[in-house]
Amino acid sequence: MGKFLVEGRRTLCGRVSINGAKNSALKLMVAALLGQGSFKLKNVPSITDVETMAGVLRALGVHVHFASGHLQLDVSSVQGQTPEALVKSMRASVQVMGPLLARLGRVEVARPGGCNIGSRPLDIHLAGFEQMGATIEVRGDTFVARAPRLHGADITFRYPSVGATENIMMAATMAKGETIIRNAAREPEIIDIQDFLNGMGAKIKGAGTPVITIQGVTELGATDFSVVPDRIEAGTYLLAFLITGGSGTVEGVVPEHLTPLLDLLESMGAGVEIGEREVSVVSPAHLEPFKVATGPYPGFPTDMQPQVVALATQARGRSVLTEAVFDRRFGYTLELSKLGARIRPNTSAVIVEGATPLYGANLVAGDLRGGAALMLGALAAEGQSTICGVEHIDRGYEAMEKRLEDLGAKVSRVVD
Ligand code: EPZ
Repeated sequence: MGKFLVEGRRTLCGRVSINGAKNSALKLMVAALLGQGSFKLKNVPSITDVETMAGVLRALGVHVHFASGHLQLDVSSVQGQTPEALVKSMRASVQVMGPLLARLGRVEVARPGGCNIGSRPLDIHLAGFEQMGATIEVRGDTFVARAPRLHGADITFRYPSVGATENIMMAATMAKGETIIRNAAREPEIIDIQDFLNGMGAKIKGAGTPVITIQGVTELGATDFSVVPDRIEAGTYLLAFLITGGSGTVEGVVPEHLTPLLDLLESMGAGVEIGEREVSVVSPAHLEPFKVATGPYPGFPTDMQPQVVALATQARGRSVLTEAVFDRRFGYTLELSKLGARIRPNTSAVIVEGATPLYGANLVAGDLRGGAALMLGALAAEGQSTICGVEHIDRGYEAMEKRLEDLGAKVSRVVD
């Protein structure tokens, strides 16, 4: 709990080193439930979602030790029930279903929570498990899935869901026979989980394409692994440079994972330089407006939508951003308008009229990426802003205030 105090209108410059991806680290942690022995994960971000997932794993009997980006897991004994309160606080905990079903033949999980950005049903996950021979019972707010041994299946997703792709991949690693996932999600985090599971002895190919094939094996071991860099954390810092008229570099990234964002920034007039493991941006004299729609990878990432809307407030003219992944991801726009931004959200798009001078205000973050957008707005605003609800930002950004301070911002955390 607490809030951020931000003194805006300071030009950010410098270099920032990017952590491993939240949305991969969390899935690798649960994928370890399928194995035996001990794992070392490197490049794990120190964020509260990782702590929450560590709590879920501990409740399942896993020994977890986390320090300085290194996470050690010992999965020799996995048993028990997923803790309802932790599962309800984080959407990614639904990913324990696949591994536990495969390992224990039964899993009971409370309907997961997470950021308030849309309805987020689980039908694609559950239909996939059923096709693999599981029975699913819904008891109030709890799902109970059972399958003495899952069997392979040819599964076509109606939508390339990231979580469902990961869940079915994990479940299929130890199923009898071959599983094919068609219309699979293609995000870089899917390739990470394939490489991790293959390191444990699984036989998976095709991640990064729409068709993933998994040959079931009878047991999996352990592996050491380094988490893929967080393309969303990287994108957020690139925008922090641009919204303050600055310039700087994100280090330790896979530039190709940032392509949809970098294309947009170039179209806005920003200077973009791509190195082997780093990307630099330089602010133009003025930013151009844009039109973009979010979509599954390699489309424009929905997890950068609120942040680019914040940037659009500083572009000269009308920008239009269409949200095509989630159905309620504009909650933050009301807060941005308190800074003076001219934003009109409708059901699926946001129209931003720029460039508007922003002025400090008291803001409340309601979700992770919306919170990041408020931080960007506050960095660009004249005077002081307060951002409450920082627990949402802490879920996915490691020590954001310190990293921004190192780049020349004036941000402090006040603990209630
Ligand atoms: C992952 O969520 C990420 N979360 C999200 O990141 C990210 O926004 C999202 O993928 C899309 O890239 C984690 O990895 C922990 P989906 P996930 O299943 O797996 C619908 C962040 O800010 N759908 O691809 O939940 C769903 O409602 C977060 O870091 C169904 O209809 O995303 C949504 O509209 C937030 N039925 C769309 O698909 C299902 O069974 C995409 O969801 C599953 C999904």
